[in-house]
Amino acid sequence: MADMNKSNRREFLARSAALAAAGTLPMGSFAQETMRARPIPGTDEFLPVVGLGAPDIFIDLPPEGKELPISVLETMIDLGGRLLDTPSFFRPNVPYLGELIEEMGIRDQMFLTGKITVNGKEAGIEHLERLVANLNKEPMDLLMIHNMRTVDEHWPTLKEWKEAGRTRYIGVSRTRQQDYVEFDQFVRTERPDFIMTGYSIHNPMAAETTLPLAADLGIAVLIVEAFRTNDDGALFSLVAGKPLPEWAGEFDIETWAQFSLKYILSHPAVTGVVTETRQVRHVIDNMRAGYGRLPDAATRQRMSEYLLSL
Ligand SMILES: NC(=O)c1ccc[n+]([C@@H]2O[C@H](COP(=O)([O-])OP(=O)(O)OC[C@H]3O[C@@H](n4cnc5c(N)ncnc54)[C@H](OP(=O)(O)O)[C@@H]3O)[C@@H](O)[C@H]2O)c1
Repeated sequence: MADMNKSNRREFLARSAALAAAGTLPMGSFAQETMRARPIPGTDEFLPVVGLGAPDIFIDLPPEGKELPISVLETMIDLGGRLLDTPSFFRPNVPYLGELIEEMGIRDQMFLTGKITVNGKEAGIEHLERLVANLNKEPMDLLMIHNMRTVDEHWPTLKEWKEAGRTRYIGVSRTRQQDYVEFDQFVRTERPDFIMTGYSIHNPMAAETTLPLAADLGIAVLIVEAFRTNDDGALFSLVAGKPLPEWAGEFDIETWAQFSLKYILSHPAVTGVVTETRQVRHVIDNMRAGYGRLPDAATRQRMSEYLLSL
C-alpha cells in the first residue's frame, strides 16, 4: 500500500493544534513529559491511561477524506496514547480502520481491543475471525464480549483463543446497566483479564461493587461513557458556558472534558479510559488528561458535588 504523505499529515495536525491553541484549549506544558501509564495487573506491561474509542470516521471514510481519521490517530500517538478500542462489527461493512492502521504502519505500537457483538457460539467465532482479519493483528491485544451477550457461549471461545495465542488478554464489557449483579458474579468466578464499563460523576454505579471487586481480584479496568449524562457526550451541553471552579487548576484541569476524565482516572481501580471523538482538538484535550496532577479523594468528592450542582 502506498505510503502516506507525511508532510500533509503534519501540516493538518499543526493546523489543528494551532486551532486548539488559538481557541478554547490551553496548550501549556506540564512538568510530566510522557502520558501517565498504569500496569496491567499481574503483568509488567504498562498502558497509557487515555485511549480512543471508535468514532464513525474509523468505520466509513468520511467526506473530509482519510486525512481526518489519520490525524485523529496521529494526534493520539503524538500525545503518548496507545490504547485503541476498535469499532464493533455492528454493520455488514468492514470498518475502514484496518486499512488505516496498515497504511500508517502503527499496528504493532497500538494496544488494540475488539469485541464480539453478536449472539451465539458459531456467529461469535465467525465474528472474531472477521475482526482479526480486518485488523490483521495476531495475537490481538484484548478481545472482549460486548455487554456480556451470550457470555456462556462466547467465553469458552475467548479462553481457547487465549490458550492458542491468538489474543493476549480476554475480558467482558457492560454499560448502561440497571445493576451489576450478573457482571460481578461473572468477574468473581471467571476472573477475566480486563473489564470495560461506564463510569463518571453522573454514572457512578460501577464504583459501588464492580470497581472495588476488580481492584481486589487484580483485574484491569477500562472505562467508557466518560461524557455521558443521559446521552453520550451530553456533559458538554450541561456545562456549556459554565466556568470551571478555580481550584480545578490545582489539578492541572484545563477543560470540562479533563474534569470528567481526571475524576475517572483518580479512581484507584481504573487502568485507563477510552473516549470517542472525530475532532483533533478534542483528542488533544482528552489526551492531556493523562498528564499533570490527579485529584485526591477529598477533591473527588468536591468535584462530584460541584458538577452535580450545576
Ligand atoms: N459496551 C461497550 O463495550 C461500550 C459501550 C459504549 C462505548 N464503548 C467504547 O467507548 C468509546 C467511547 O464511547 P462513549 O459512548 O464512551 O462516548 P464518549 O467518549 O463519552 O462521548 C463521545 C461524545 O463526546 C464528544 N467529545 C469527545 N471529546 C470531547 C471533548 N474533549 N470536548 C467536547 N466534546 C467531546 C464527541 O463529539 P466530537 O466527535 O465532536 O468530539 C462525542 O459526541 C466508543 O467508541 C467505544 O469504543 C464501549
